[in-house]
This record gives sequence, C-alpha cells and structure tokens, in this order.
Amino acid sequence: MIYPENTTRRNQFGSFLRRLFGSADTPPPHFSKFAEFGKGASGIIHDLSNPLTVLSLSIEQLRNAGIENRKARKYIETAERASRKMKLFLSDVKRQLSDKETKKRFDASFEIKGAIKLLRSIARESKVKIKFRPNQAVFLCGDQVKFWRVVSNIISNAVDSYADFPPNQNKLVIVRIKKDRKTVRLSVRDFGCGIPKHLHKAIFEPFYTTKQKHEGVAGLGLSIVKNIIENDFAGKIKVESIPGRGSTFTFVIPKN
Ligand SMILES: Nc1ncnc2c1ncn2[C@@H]1O[C@H](COP(=O)(O)OP(=O)(O)OP(=O)(O)O)[C@@H](O)[C@H]1O
Ligand SMILES: [Mg+2]
Repeated sequence: MIYPENTTRRNQFGSFLRRLFGSADTPPPHFSKFAEFGKGASGIIHDLSNPLTVLSLSIEQLRNAGIENRKARKYIETAERASRKMKLFLSDVKRQLSDKETKKRFDASFEIKGAIKLLRSIARESKVKIKFRPNQAVFLCGDQVKFWRVVSNIISNAVDSYADFPPNQNKLVIVRIKKDRKTVRLSVRDFGCGIPKHLHKAIFEPFYTTKQKHEGVAGLGLSIVKNIIENDFAGKIKVESIPGRGSTFTFVIPKN
C-alpha cells in the first residue's frame, strides 16, 4: 500500500461534495452533512435502487450462463462487487436519511460473530484468519445494525491491510471484547501494512482512501464508524499503528 506524503487521494465525488460544503481550507464535510444534503434526495436514492436491482439480477444471470472465458468471468466478478458496493452505499445513505432509531439491548459478541461470518468469505479469498473468542455475552444498548456496520468496516479494513502481502505469509486479525463495570472495550488488531503517524487523523475524514478501487465511493468507512461510535454510542475511537507492523483500532463505549 502506498501512502502519499502530503496529498490524499480522494475521488471526484469527494471533491464535488467538498465544493458543495466547504473550501479546500475547511475540513471536509462529515457524513452527517452528507445526509443533510441528501434529505431532498431520498427520491433519487429510491429511483437508483430499481435499476440497480435490474443490473445485479442481469449480472447474476450472466454468471449463471456459465461463461468459460476467463477474462469475461473476471469482468463479471468486478461488476458483481461493484453492484454489491452500490447496494451497501445506498442502504447506508437511506439509513442516514431516516430518522428511525432502533435502540435496544443487544449482545455485542453476537453481532461481532455475525459480521465475521459474513466477512469470512472475503478473508478466505485473501487468506486472512479472523480470530474472535469471546467468553461471555457483552450487552450494549443502541442500534445493533449500526454497531454491526462499525465492526464490519473495521474488520474489513484489517483484512485489506494485508493486500500487498505475499499469499503464503501468516495473516491474522484478532478481535477482542472486554467489559468492566462502566465500559465495553472492543479492539481489532492486525499485523498488516500499518498507518504512518501523520495520517492517523486524516484516515477518519470522509473520502480519504489509499485503496485503488474502481467501483463505488471509497474512503467512507472510518468516517461512518467514528460518527456512529461518537454520536450513537457516546464512545471513543483510538488508533495505534506502526507502519510495517500493523494497527489496532480500539473503541471504548460506556455501558448504559
Ligand atoms: N487496519 C488498517 N491498516 C492500514 N490502513 C488502514 C487500516 N484501516 C484504515 N486504513 C487506512 O485508512 C483509509 C480510510 O479507511 P476507510 O475505511 O475510511 O476507507 P476505505 O477502506 O479506503 O474505503 P471504504 O471503507 O469506504 O470501502 C484506508 O484507505 C487505509 O489507507
Ligand atoms: Mg474501509
């Protein structure tokens, strides 16, 4: 993974939004501002959902047609990933636009296990092992879907941190959850590429990304995570990282 020294690679959509919400000198808009911007746009989101469904069904049919050509199969896989990403993005925006809160008591360990289950197929592809051995239920109060998004974003970043590693090297992600009387502490540790100190703040900005993605909007994961942890769970997020050694993202969430 290549980290630019002074500049951050952000996509064109990001600069479009920055033009809308602030100059180059002001901090980039937070995702909640993006939601504000989208308030009048929920119709557009809805109108985009239907052609997207048609698109992903067509791609599925193409895949099921049993095309032999290797190059064509690769294009189909890329198109599939892109449509999945678009669906996730649209549902994210929809959630941000809706005022509905679904607060309840939930077992955080159970949510983490669920997120890992879904991520395992991606992790298996890149030969990354995800270890999580909770020894007890850990209850939190809040929106469990949002908590799930936090966990899956952080773990998928940890899996991505091994993107440039050779296939047969040991690649491990360790997820831990601990509780004490007042707080729940969740950490996700990887031994991947790591993040230089001068970027520890920038990575939480919307649209900051170092990943070469050809589809969807990239660089939103950590800004969404930070927003959810701070605003929905009144918690704190911390990153410790050494380039070449790996990273640990830690969340401390007050129990309520
Ligand atoms: N565990 C990690 N190890 C190394 N770099 C990381 C890690 N987590 C985040 N980063 C860096 O922070 C950047 C921003 O992360 P973020 O999750 O916001 O966006 P993204 O992963 O690039 O795209 P998206 O999550 O929207 O698909 C990443 O592109 C990467 O450079
Ligand atoms: Mg991410």
